[in-house]
Amino acid sequence: MSDTTASTVTLDHGVTMPTIGFGTAHLTDETAAQAVGEAFAAGYRKVDTATAYTNETGVGRAIARSGLPRDEVFVTTKVWNNDQGRDAVRPALQASLERLALDHVDLYLLHWPAPALGLFIETYKVLEQLRDEGLTRAIGVSNFQPHHLRQLLPATTVTPAVNQIELHPYLQQRELRALHAKLGIVTEAWSPLGQGSLVDDPILREIAQRRGLTLAQVALAWHLQHGTAVIPRSQDPARMRANLATLDVGGLHDADLCAIDNLDRDHRLGPHPDEFDG
Ligand SMILES: NC(=O)c1ccc[n+]([C@@H]2O[C@H](COP(=O)([O-])OP(=O)(O)OC[C@H]3O[C@@H](n4cnc5c(N)ncnc54)[C@H](OP(=O)(O)O)[C@@H]3O)[C@@H](O)[C@H]2O)c1
Repeated sequence: MSDTTASTVTLDHGVTMPTIGFGTAHLTDETAAQAVGEAFAAGYRKVDTATAYTNETGVGRAIARSGLPRDEVFVTTKVWNNDQGRDAVRPALQASLERLALDHVDLYLLHWPAPALGLFIETYKVLEQLRDEGLTRAIGVSNFQPHHLRQLLPATTVTPAVNQIELHPYLQQRELRALHAKLGIVTEAWSPLGQGSLVDDPILREIAQRRGLTLAQVALAWHLQHGTAVIPRSQDPARMRANLATLDVGGLHDADLCAIDNLDRDHRLGPHPDEFDG
């Protein structure tokens, strides 16, 4: 049995990031304020939002209401495709900070490479400046494929701390994860539960029943044991707590990890990063 269910991972410059965070896609300002507040009460200390989710105001409200010291909450947001480019990125982050009612975020991600725009390198260079100025403690990318990273790295100076990608047992992105490991980039899984599409999987169900876990805990434990950070979303406080409690399940057996590795079927739920420019 591998024991890799660490509750935090260290990014560049010693920035510490919780391995399990709370996702907020599809939540409105109102539902995000409610759900993020419940997530904090359940023990989450990382929240993932984006300009594109149009809920940063609600997330900011939950942070303020929580009363948690700023340095105990890890906040990720992302620059949207239509804010890429030399002049638009800084105002985009400033607008996000205003909505979040914060003076800095912990991780600022370039949301999509959007290769058709041809702007991701110059956009990332602005992220480097924003990090130097303390408006974000760490920077990274999202939805980058190996060839996007191979274009980005020689043209920039700061290796992305994180690449947040679609990742679940049905889309395992092995080549990309191996490249992250080589480059020291933390893999963070979006849709780590496959947006609910894993519920009927007989392999996951059998492991869950045998181990006395929920199916979601089995999926999340698989991610964590592969060294992947996760940001599951739920509007149900009991599920929020159960998902976070994956940190306490003690790890999956190697044979079970292997059985889940064999579920890969290259099944994407979201758009392909080469094709999406939003
Ligand atoms: N960078 C990107 O391009 C990108 C793209 C998509 C998403 N994301 C981020 O990744 C986060 C997570 O992805 P996601 O929201 O697409 O999907 P997800 O977390 O894989 O799945 C969310 C769904 O799973 C259900 N669920 C959660 N916990 C459960 C449990 N224990 N048992 C059964 N069902 C459970 C939720 O329903 P209930 O609410 O009813 O529990 C919800 O319908 C997003 O919220 C967002 O922050 C990033």
